[in-house]
Amino acid sequence: MAETTITSLMMQHHSVIVGLLNNLKTAVKKDAENIRAEFAQFERQAKEHFSIEETVIFEFSKTLDAKRTEIILSLMREHQIMLSLMDVVLRGLPENDYSGVYELEDVLIRHATTEETILYPGLDENLPTEKKEVMIKRIQETSGELLIIKS
Ligand SMILES: [Fe+2]
Ligand SMILES: [Fe+2]
Repeated sequence: MAETTITSLMMQHHSVIVGLLNNLKTAVKKDAENIRAEFAQFERQAKEHFSIEETVIFEFSKTLDAKRTEIILSLMREHQIMLSLMDVVLRGLPENDYSGVYELEDVLIRHATTEETILYPGLDENLPTEKKEVMIKRIQETSGELLIIKS
């Protein structure tokens, strides 16, 4: 079995969130009755994920070095952008305007790729083992459905 790392756990989170977003897109395409419910599921898990990243991982990691701090501040700004886009999606629902969904998807995929290819592999490689183990345990304890739901 592959080693559990910050990267592997966050990739699992991301695949759950992207799965929920795909469910939302499917509902939107069919103009189905469950659009609101699918959006609510996606929104809940995405917010949970941002919160875990910011409190468990970013908070400590941004003390490491200037370059990493810069990346983390930029990722945190993107969290805010995505939260605003979620409001745009919500406001569009009554008018059947789903354009925000695709804008949100663009930002989310780019954001997750930066985390998976730059930030998290760097932390797995450079964080002190003890610190990393504490983080991994904390992520596992707080992830809830982000490590359970299968998309
Ligand atoms: Fe993030
Ligand atoms: Fe993420």
